Amino acid sequence: MRVAIIGQGYVGTAIGVAAHSVGHQVVGIENNLEKLDSLRNSLEYRVGSDYGLVSDAEVIVIAVPTPLDQERRPDLSFIEAACKSLKSVLSEPVLVVNESTSFPGTLRNVIAPILGDMHLYASAPERVDPANEKWGIANTPRLVAGIDDIATAKALDFYRSFCKEVIEVSSPEVAEAAKLFENTFRQVNIALVNEFAQIADVLGISTVETLQAASTKPYGFMPFMPSIGVGGHCIPVDPSYLSYVAEKSGVEAAFINLANQVNAGMPDYVASRIAGLLGGTVEGKKIQVAGISYKADVSDTRESPALALIGVLRKKGALVSWHDEVVKEHGGETSKPLAGVDLGVIATAHSGVNYGPWKNGGVMVIDVSTPPNTGWPKFL
Ligand SMILES: NC(=O)c1ccc[n+]([C@@H]2O[C@H](COP(=O)([O-])OP(=O)(O)OC[C@H]3O[C@@H](n4cnc5c(N)ncnc54)[C@H](O)[C@@H]3O)[C@@H](O)[C@H]2O)c1
Repeated sequence: MRVAIIGQGYVGTAIGVAAHSVGHQVVGIENNLEKLDSLRNSLEYRVGSDYGLVSDAEVIVIAVPTPLDQERRPDLSFIEAACKSLKSVLSEPVLVVNESTSFPGTLRNVIAPILGDMHLYASAPERVDPANEKWGIANTPRLVAGIDDIATAKALDFYRSFCKEVIEVSSPEVAEAAKLFENTFRQVNIALVNEFAQIADVLGISTVETLQAASTKPYGFMPFMPSIGVGGHCIPVDPSYLSYVAEKSGVEAAFINLANQVNAGMPDYVASRIAGLLGGTVEGKKIQVAGISYKADVSDTRESPALALIGVLRKKGALVSWHDEVVKEHGGETSKPLAGVDLGVIATAHSGVNYGPWKNGGVMVIDVSTPPNTGWPKFL
């Protein structure tokens, strides 16, 4: 099939590579020109910024950002802009599939009205987990639903060409809602364990040991790890898409709001425990944070709670530097070698980091990262 993928980020390139690998003729559209240059060198399919490249496509996949605005409400401006650009170049009917995460109704009430009646429409939310070596595009089951039967059949054909398991659901709204619910499930459970970590601390109980003990129950329990909060483009963002539609429809999303609050409060909580370790204040103390991306072995710093922790510590007067050879540069600052400081924080544990300078310098270190293991006991 002739396939065009709008947006060449984490999701768009993953789909592009998968579709190209099974013989589809793929073109990727990316409007960030700087990014385009490096993509041209690394991808085996055609990429460009000109929407004219899309005009003869049979299948168009939308994979653009769906962030939150300043008020933390859904920002669909990227989807809307992509659809308007597509509208100006499409003269023949195509299948338009949305993979971008958004609330139920986005395909039917936002995308289809912009592009018009001529096309077929389906939803197939992406579930990619960056840096996950076990679950990728091919073996992660894919939910698919079209607005009508013809769209569904065509979308199933397309996804079955590179996904082992494709599951048809009854409407695009179910597919869209399932994606939001999956990530809300994680967000709420992470908040729950983050709250538990605070309870365990005042009770003088080990959170990790308690979770290991609870995990011996063979049914009805699933462990989540405490951390300084949630980051990336999904877990801190997607639940707010669900609470937005819930509240617009008159239902208060109490769990989602509370989970947001607990997770967003973790950098403050950890900063106050750090102050406790440093004699009651962090003011004037040299603190170094290892790992500033939201997740081990990825360079994505979007919504990273490590950055929030750095912000809180600096506001309280600490002299904070950071080390992250995966991210390298952020906000005009660069990664600094690990060094002798008053306290080291492992916020995100990238593989292969040599913590020798901290170990040899006798630095007090707290590990607030989720697995993999760093050799230091978990602090939360
Ligand atoms: N990253 C993940 O792990 C993940 C997982 C599942 C779902 N998603 C969802 O997939 C969608 C895309 O996420 P991502 O992580 O790939 O984002 P991303 O920011 O990495 O990539 C999106 C790309 O789209 C480009 N773009 C924006 N507007 C465009 C336009 N009008 N025309 C062409 N290109 C345009 C951006 O420049 C960017 O390179 C989001 O809805 C996200 O929630 C992401």
